[in-house]
Amino acid sequence: MDTELKYLFAPYELKGHHIKNRIVMAPMELLIKKTRDGFVNEDHLNHYGERARSGIGLVIIEATSVDPRSMNVVSQLGAWSDEHIPGLRRLAAACQRYGAKVLLQLQHLGVRMKQDPIGPSAYQDKSVTAREMKLDELKALQEAYVSAIRRAELAGFDGVELHGAHGYMLNQFSSPNVNQRTDRYGGTLDNRLRFVQEVMEQAQPLVNERFIFGYRMGCNQPTLEDGVAMAVRLEQMGIDVIHVSSCGYSGSRPELPTDFPYNWVIYGGSRIREKVTVPVIVVYEIRTPERADDIVKQGYGDFAAIGRELIVDAEWARKAADGDEIRYCIRCQPCVIFNGENCVML
Ligand SMILES: Cc1cc2nc3c(=O)[nH]c(=O)nc-3n(C[C@H](O)[C@H](O)[C@H](O)COP(=O)(O)O)c2cc1C
Repeated sequence: MDTELKYLFAPYELKGHHIKNRIVMAPMELLIKKTRDGFVNEDHLNHYGERARSGIGLVIIEATSVDPRSMNVVSQLGAWSDEHIPGLRRLAAACQRYGAKVLLQLQHLGVRMKQDPIGPSAYQDKSVTAREMKLDELKALQEAYVSAIRRAELAGFDGVELHGAHGYMLNQFSSPNVNQRTDRYGGTLDNRLRFVQEVMEQAQPLVNERFIFGYRMGCNQPTLEDGVAMAVRLEQMGIDVIHVSSCGYSGSRPELPTDFPYNWVIYGGSRIREKVTVPVIVVYEIRTPERADDIVKQGYGDFAAIGRELIVDAEWARKAADGDEIRYCIRCQPCVIFNGENCVML
């Protein structure tokens, strides 16, 4: 073990879970895993198992749909049916057998659905025209989230991450630029977070007390000040770990202080971390073990999530520990083509 990286390899206790280090595998959907109807296949087991084996502390499984009508790509994973549970159980176990903790990221596309797109309110931009969901549709979607959370727990996951970043449904609810509802699910911050708050209230009694609720949000929600206020509310409603990325819909990038050594997404995460007591995961262009270690050391984040480098080099974590040479992503982009212009991260 390279003792220089003692911050990155320091364990963390979260809700009775011993997370062996601060390395998080960022959620990433990959087209190469050819499956249908949301089922886990051997490609998923190999892909995640290989990365967990190399020593990652916390694996976050890619965006998994809570609704069969909301699929990013036909090969997206699903958690909308009990039939998904056996495959999800194998997936959780494929990571846990190497000592990793594992969260399942839950997603709904909202206004970005390919057919009959619905959102918190009617929405139009150059690529989508979506209608406002009716109250009974809103309630049904909350039930879909709650059922998916329950399935994740039954499948043995240590928790879930609710995907509230990158412009998807939960981001649409929280964004004042998209959510124009005039009922109790739109307007004030509390109203815009009511959808997720009620999901939490319904789900919490159904899962064991150690079950981790994560939330991925944009720091620019749409401003950093809004993002900080939102993170504080998420903590109050029982979110156990906040993963700070970027949001869609005209979020403004926070201005970087000249002496801040990393990018604006990490800066946003660091500012949020100052105001919450739950752990914060930061992400975006962290790339090297040395940066990840420094980010934890400086207190910018409790955990450092690694994305594209883990597509390219499954052994990133082991090589970090052993001081071996890592193969770095060259940003050639094919891995993100399916996201196309919708991808606000890249
Ligand atoms: C191919 C690909 C797929 C992604 N899929 C997801 C996803 O399913 N859920 C999500 O929240 N972010 C997704 N992201 C964003 C990553 O989690 C991460 O935030 C981003 O890659 C930035 O981190 P990096 O600079 O370390 O790659 C994806 C990114 C890539 C490259």
